[in-house]
Amino acid sequence: MKYFIHTYGCQMNVHDSEKIAGILESLGYESCKNAAEADAVVFNTCCIRATAEQKIYGHIGELKKIKRQNPNMIVAVCGCMSQQDGVAEKIKDSYPFVDIVLGTSNLTMLKDAVINARSKKKSFNVDFVSYKEEDFVESRTSFPNAWVNINYGCNNFCTYCIVPYVRGRERSRSLADIISEINSLLKDGYKEITLLGQNVNSYGHDLQNGENFAQLLHEIGKLEGKFRLRFMTSHPKDLSEEVIEAVSAYPNICNNIHLPVQSGSTEILRRMNRRYTREDYLKLIEKIRAKLPDVGITTDIMVGFPGESEQDFSDTLDLVRQAKFSSAFCFVYSRRKGTPAYSMPNQIPSDVKRSRITQLLACQNEVTKEISREMLGKRFEILVEGANDHYKNTMCGRTESGRLVNFVGDENSIGEFVTVEIEKAKSATLWGRIVTEEK
Ligand code: SAH
Ligand code: SF4
Ligand code: F3S
Repeated sequence: MKYFIHTYGCQMNVHDSEKIAGILESLGYESCKNAAEADAVVFNTCCIRATAEQKIYGHIGELKKIKRQNPNMIVAVCGCMSQQDGVAEKIKDSYPFVDIVLGTSNLTMLKDAVINARSKKKSFNVDFVSYKEEDFVESRTSFPNAWVNINYGCNNFCTYCIVPYVRGRERSRSLADIISEINSLLKDGYKEITLLGQNVNSYGHDLQNGENFAQLLHEIGKLEGKFRLRFMTSHPKDLSEEVIEAVSAYPNICNNIHLPVQSGSTEILRRMNRRYTREDYLKLIEKIRAKLPDVGITTDIMVGFPGESEQDFSDTLDLVRQAKFSSAFCFVYSRRKGTPAYSMPNQIPSDVKRSRITQLLACQNEVTKEISREMLGKRFEILVEGANDHYKNTMCGRTESGRLVNFVGDENSIGEFVTVEIEKAKSATLWGRIVTEEK
């Protein structure tokens, strides 16, 4: 029996899919490459923007034909989209061939739901249950990197964002559980650990025992052996001096911070409920760069938030030039039902949004090019992550600061640290050559 998981959305979902894979494997399924060969298909969905959702409904619809040929195939829809109000009913009514709908927090029910589906019993349940990480045996797919959840959910309620409604309130795992998971991953040979949370900086706020993110970093930094630690996402309002200090104190913690700014206009930030100003953000960047001179700072930016004027947008472009992000994920604002921004006046017409995103991408591209040029001829330690499928004998991996580098190498080196010298640096893509190899 074979399974196929289609994962949409962020790293949180990528890691949830590893939990889903673990459940299916415990039931005797093996992974396969596409839905047509599968006996069980799981859609792990995202609803952050309307475009994501439309794509997913399209893909679910495409399964109708396949299921007609293979009526025993089990179809499940999980994740953030199914957790939204009314979506489980909509799927039940419009896609009668779907057997299972589960939400973001009741994944532990997937096992029984699949067993029931085998005898044609359907399960539709999006109740919130608080699960423990220890309820899962993940089937990990991203060696040499391993994802580790540290907190779930979000309490910030940025006015554009659906996440707090579909992932629930913030819940932190205990520090001891996190350390024990990381220890066992390091023992299994993983070389890079990425801590996951919607807002890692607020880790521990709900624990009431004083455990916080800086303390967690200290505990991980002290672990023995050569490995890399990354974390995402940092909310600018909660990134403390102690956290910056912890990153600077331990060589294992990468000088790489994902710090979504969203907008360069204080007025837009206020209406987004981000709780920092343009000046706060730029000051924070200065503070980080003073302590971590080689840091790579990446960000998320949105254009076309309701009421965004030409001046607001040009403030964003200006901030992008000042902040010198090594890369930026740029998005067009998408109206999400149930969020406050949905009903704000002055929604921006789509042609204006399109023009702004094009300008923003061009602006960031110039910044990235400049940073790339500065890297030419320099040497960097890279963790070899995998093969570059577009070129023969070509491997890729990241610098500590998070930049992806391609170089000639072989697959035996996956999971090893190598030093490369950058030879070509056109824009986002860097090319290098191995100069020494450390096992
Ligand atoms: N927790 C993270 C982000 C999660 S969503 C944080 O606070 O930064 C990832 C990104 O999607 C956000 O940073 C934002 O830039 C974008 N995003 C969220 N809601 C959106 C919406 N309604 N329309 C367009 N982009 C959105
Ligand atoms: Fe969404 Fe804001 Fe929470 Fe990030 S911090 S998940 S953008 S509400
Ligand atoms: Fe992630 Fe999308 Fe959910 S971005 S948290 S999978 S809505």
